[in-house]
Amino acid sequence: MRLSGEVCREVRALIASRLGLDFPESRQADLERGLLRALRASSIPAPEAYLTWLAALPDESPEWRRLAGHLTVGETYFFRDRALFEALEGEVLPSLIQVRRSEGVPRLRLWSAGCATGEEPYSLAILLDRLLPDRTDWAVTILATDINPVALEAARRAIYREWSFRETPQWVRDRYFHRRGAETFEVDPGIRRMITVVPLNLAEDGYPSVVTNTTAMDLILCRNVLMYFTREAQRATVARLQRALVSGGWLAVSPAEASAELFRPLAPVSFPGAILYRTDHAYVVPPLPSWQADTGLPDSPAPLLSVPISSDLVTPPSPVTSSLEEQAEALPHTGTDLPRARALADQGKLEEARELCEAALARDRLDPETHLLLAAICQERGEIPAALEALRRAIYLAPDSAPAHFLLGSLLLRQGQQRRGRRSLETVVHLLSGVPRDEVLPGGDGLTASRLLETARAYLELRG
Ligand SMILES: C[S@@+](CC[C@H](N)C(=O)[O-])C[C@H]1O[C@@H](n2cnc3c(N)ncnc32)[C@H](O)[C@@H]1O
Repeated sequence: MRLSGEVCREVRALIASRLGLDFPESRQADLERGLLRALRASSIPAPEAYLTWLAALPDESPEWRRLAGHLTVGETYFFRDRALFEALEGEVLPSLIQVRRSEGVPRLRLWSAGCATGEEPYSLAILLDRLLPDRTDWAVTILATDINPVALEAARRAIYREWSFRETPQWVRDRYFHRRGAETFEVDPGIRRMITVVPLNLAEDGYPSVVTNTTAMDLILCRNVLMYFTREAQRATVARLQRALVSGGWLAVSPAEASAELFRPLAPVSFPGAILYRTDHAYVVPPLPSWQADTGLPDSPAPLLSVPISSDLVTPPSPVTSSLEEQAEALPHTGTDLPRARALADQGKLEEARELCEAALARDRLDPETHLLLAAICQERGEIPAALEALRRAIYLAPDSAPAHFLLGSLLLRQGQQRRGRRSLETVVHLLSGVPRDEVLPGGDGLTASRLLETARAYLELRG
């Protein structure tokens, strides 16, 4: 496909604004190749007609997600970037685990943003399985998102070929995978169940949100994704990812994407061969609480990949005040406390947020938005029956609440209840079809009608 200068400029601008992807002159051939593949897969014969049609589609159209699949590289493998996984295994995850144990809050929330076919989130799940001998007592969330529906289906199938193991120690494959054919290996179901695979376009503003389970993250891996984005999309994406982190949370990008300037105010923290970025807490490994010595837990396993990393290699970042924290503090204690509870939930202060919701419900049991927020908080705390109960009340009080039906649908899907989950998401599509695109939805944590509609459609598009 050869594009004239004028058309080319228009296509580039369109792709940059909808998908965040950057195609400078030097990548003209990649752009044309990708568009040609997308054109062949569509039912439209001529390039100009295809591009005009694409431009007229709203950005929630599935065609945009399919196009992203043709324009992006899905290259990935298990434990890609050894130095990073050593830092995660030797320092970052143990420190998070230790803090949570000392607080008596056995919860971890990790996100692989731009997960491609899933090797990255499954690598995280394997690390956690090794680091948490008492894993069944923990609420662990590993969110795996990507824009490309074909890649997401592969992540859900969880069946891999030799090539995905090119830097993986043999025993990892022996222990965590089952041979399914001469050259194919399936992830162990126990590890498979640890990750939640859902679509998400990082270039859009539908996150972080309690409704899409994209807040209060302890660690986000967004590697080899931002490098394909325009500078503007990089900045907007980093700002959103930063808001999705708890205080003291970590962001990991690939070495080629490291940039103190882009990630400010996150502070760079150096490990041998890897740099991670951290929100406002100074890096301090807390002393072991005395009760932990008596838990009967086995010692930490030997490191998966190599020797542990010394913690004094870590540079303590300068403290930065969290704007969310300030926001929550500044909010007046109003009658309902809802904005304050939401701000606390966004920061990952889930226990305080839950208490506020319960206090608000003690005053007014009939407020559907408080039940909805409570449901989202329970979901983040890993309390699924309580989340379902709160949602049942929210929907009883506000049967037309699309965010409540969405949360219910995504929870049911995570529980493996495909038919019921899909039915709830279809209700979301039905409820939002006539609603003005930019209408901000009550209880939707800032989500607009078109954003939630797009998300529900993308979830429905993905096969179970
Ligand atoms: C090279 S892969 C990275 C996989 C994995 N993170 C790793 O480092 O091994 C890049 C992924 O980014 C995804 N991607 C590109 N643009 C995206 C967007 N706007 N939103 C979400 N994912 C996107 C692509 O679909 C692709 O799967």
